Amino acid sequence: MPVLSGSVVLVTGANGGLGRELVEQALARGAAKVYATARRPREWNDPRVVPLTLDVTDADSIRAAVAQAQDVTVLINNAGMSLASDTLMALSDEEIRDVMETNFFGPVALTRAFAPVLATSSTSAVLNIHSPLSWIALTGAYSASKAALWSATNSFRVELAPQGTQVTGVHVGYMDTAMAKGVNAPKTSPEEVAWKSFDGLEQGDYEVIVDEISAGVKLGLSGPISDLYPALPANAPA
Ligand SMILES: NC(=O)c1ccc[n+]([C@@H]2O[C@H](COP(=O)([O-])OP(=O)(O)OC[C@H]3O[C@@H](n4cnc5c(N)ncnc54)[C@H](OP(=O)(O)O)[C@@H]3O)[C@@H](O)[C@H]2O)c1
Repeated sequence: MPVLSGSVVLVTGANGGLGRELVEQALARGAAKVYATARRPREWNDPRVVPLTLDVTDADSIRAAVAQAQDVTVLINNAGMSLASDTLMALSDEEIRDVMETNFFGPVALTRAFAPVLATSSTSAVLNIHSPLSWIALTGAYSASKAALWSATNSFRVELAPQGTQVTGVHVGYMDTAMAKGVNAPKTSPEEVAWKSFDGLEQGDYEVIVDEISAGVKLGLSGPISDLYPALPANAPA
């Protein structure tokens, strides 16, 4: 099982609300080094933190990060984006592609690129940040991107198991960060999300369900579609 003590962690989107917390808590759990990656990296004033430029949508940027970070043992795909107004009918093709590039193709490309690096470590892990929106489409592009990422996590978990890399998916509803600043609903603190994510990772959990919203939506998948989507009639019109 991967432990964070002595590990070398790479966090994408490390300047964001959850990203900052993942960097700090990885260090608190004994990580030897954390690559805090961002499109515009900040100073961390901690010798254990290596700021690294990484745009998850840019293949050259990913190649450069892999070349510089050949000692990574834990990859955290945290970077993500959402759009304020998000319905598939209203968004432009380009907007939908932007969301998919950041939330799906980026983490997939990073996982593929870092897999050989992770394989060189006796214990290694990938941590992917999902949402209950992986399971319920309350937004258009964002939900689709998190559903696709969840599926990719499931594939990578099986594909990377033979090389000893654990793949863990985190599902969290609203979180108190910039991404959800316009949302007026209960939110989990990024501190709690990072803490539960790392507990799950270190316990060898394949999935971390952070909050009741995520647990409830997952349970709801076994029921009728119209229960998940009350705006629908109980049966599709003939
Ligand atoms: N907040 C929520 O309610 C919530 C709920 C469930 C899941 N999540 C997920 O949690 C993760 C962290 O989000 P957050 O809540 O911490 O939001 P946040 O504060 O907005 O942070 C998102 C980070 O992702 C970075 N990012 C966006 N596009 C990028 C790119 N192309 N390359 C590299 N970095 C990029 C942003 O960088 P810049 O600073 O350069 O813009 C930002 O630092 C995301 O995957 C999000 O989808 C959030």
